[in-house]
Amino acid sequence: MSSIVILAIESSCDETAAAVLKDGKLLSNVIANQQVHVQYGGVVPELASRAHQQHIVPVVATALERAGTRIDQINAIAFTRGPGLLGSLLVGVSFAKGLALARKIPLIEVHHMQAHVLAHFIEDPKPPFPFLCLTVSGGHTQIVYVEDYLKMRIIGQTQDDAVGEAFDKAAKMLGLPYPGGPLIDKYAQEGNPYRFAFPEVAIPGLNYSFSGIKTAFLYFLQEQQQQNPNFIAENLADLCASIQYTLVDILLKKLRKAARQMKISHIAIAGGVAANSQLRKQLSQLGEQEGWQVYIPKFEYCTDNAAMIAITAYYKYLAGEFSSPQVTPLARMEF
Ligand code: KG4
Ligand code: ZN
Repeated sequence: MSSIVILAIESSCDETAAAVLKDGKLLSNVIANQQVHVQYGGVVPELASRAHQQHIVPVVATALERAGTRIDQINAIAFTRGPGLLGSLLVGVSFAKGLALARKIPLIEVHHMQAHVLAHFIEDPKPPFPFLCLTVSGGHTQIVYVEDYLKMRIIGQTQDDAVGEAFDKAAKMLGLPYPGGPLIDKYAQEGNPYRFAFPEVAIPGLNYSFSGIKTAFLYFLQEQQQQNPNFIAENLADLCASIQYTLVDILLKKLRKAARQMKISHIAIAGGVAANSQLRKQLSQLGEQEGWQVYIPKFEYCTDNAAMIAITAYYKYLAGEFSSPQVTPLARMEF
């Protein structure tokens, strides 16, 4: 059988990424970050799509070059169809369609959140089916029951904010630049996670809520600053450690509940927040207590990347799941 060589593109939010995968093996993985949003304290959709337009050709060219692959050796082109920012998705979808038409190769659409889960199959160790995956990003917080590569369902999710959003908003309240999640992680290294406690809201079933904790944190900071205007600066590390501990604790309590309920002991995490060092540490500890086999991807496969799009597309290729040339991006997209 001849080789399957896939070029994959990811452009759902503020990262322009491309990867080349040959027979399930990653040959290259390139990402261009967009610094333009930092000054606005969040992603500006209009600026994100313009930056994708600037980056996409050089990013794809670099991915091909690093893989040592010529464009005529690509058998299929994969892209993120959704969910994400429409203007950002449009750049990747249009690019993929143009290339598919020019090269007469099939198009493969990929669901961004499914790809975060399948990031576990880029490298060993790969989890066996079925497993649970806590997928935590800037836009989503989901507990996913994964039966097979292309068969998964959400058994719990946030009813309001995503946990990444909670990290970023808490960071903003502390005066940290966007995206603040990684900075909270960094300052928390020096802090005491038990110094401040914030109330956790009880949500039924396997769902989450993060809007209450965000408000509680805001009121707490306002109250303290009335007494001491330097409160944040003087307590930054402890504040970061404490809010991070609370957010991670909320995530893991529901994950434990889900694992016990579903009687599953293979547990994975994915998505940008899976890069959080406290989450990785606490998950490993909980895993030991509960007798789980825990799967934590490399940092570069947690945050948005095209390698995860490529591996998902590989399984879709094997299953014969291709897209029509009329395919359009979807800002919201069901599993
Ligand atoms: O998956 P991702 O790269 O993009 C989305 O699909 O949303 O996730 C981005 C989110 C942001 O909210 C960012 O602050 C958060 O992941 N994040 C972190 C860390 N690294 C990224 N949050 C906490 N600790 C980190 N180390
Ligand atoms: Zn993502």
